[in-house]
Amino acid sequence: MTIRNHPERYSTPVVILHWFMLLLLIAVYGFIELRELFPKGTEPRELMKTLHFMLGLTVLATVFLRLFFRISSRTPAIQPAPGWISRRVSQAVQIALYTLMIGMPIAGWLVLSAAGKPVPFFGLELPPLIAENKGLADTIKGVHKTVGKAGYLLIAAHALAGLYHHYVRRDNTLTRILPGR
Ligand code: HEM
Ligand code: HEM
Repeated sequence: MTIRNHPERYSTPVVILHWFMLLLLIAVYGFIELRELFPKGTEPRELMKTLHFMLGLTVLATVFLRLFFRISSRTPAIQPAPGWISRRVSQAVQIALYTLMIGMPIAGWLVLSAAGKPVPFFGLELPPLIAENKGLADTIKGVHKTVGKAGYLLIAAHALAGLYHHYVRRDNTLTRILPGR
């Protein structure tokens, strides 16, 4: 296992955390969408929401570890090297993805705090971040939902770009972040 990035591929922790985060986000998005299958106030709907909250908070707990491994070592070079614009766009998208992984869980935590609702985390109850304020809860919830929807587009664009590099440009962008290659 390599803790530091190899010149031609990301380190094992970055690779594991990248794909673990994808699974986590599928679950976070999946549970909040699936809640719509159940009427308001029913137990399965509340369970779906609780799983959304707890797994969303797991994103927050994990993202800093990932960021640490990411910035503690040089990014492996893409070969053949893409153009300047492509590199800048990719950087901007990666910054936006990190902002999503940090900002969305904090916004969710703020919504529950301002709504005066408990913040569950695998048997624990986390403290509220702000005082109860229903109006503010609704405002932050609106932002959380809109940015969450934008997250679908951002993740899709990022994943498609990775596939484009692999199948069309035929460079090593994707293999740098695949396990065991
Ligand atoms: C990366 C993490 C997260 C993502 C991507 C995310 C995404 C979303 C999305 C897309 C929705 C709206 C679905 C719709 O339009 O109805 C939503 C709703 C919501 N999320 Fe999150 N969320 C995350 C983390 C959290 C966390 C950690 C909490 C709380 C601790 C939270 C609390 C909520 C609440 C209260 C709602 C509204 C639920 C409702 O009105 O029934 N979210 N989230
Ligand atoms: C099927 C889904 C996905 C594919 C095919 C994919 C593909 C890739 C590829 C090819 C890279 C290397 C790009 C480079 O080094 O320039 C990468 C890196 C990255 N991906 Fe993804 N990705 C996917 C899902 C996600 C998700 C869900 C997130 C987070 C919301 C994410 C966040 C990142 C970040 C932040 C990097 C930079 C390396 C790092 O800091 O870990 N990716 N991805």
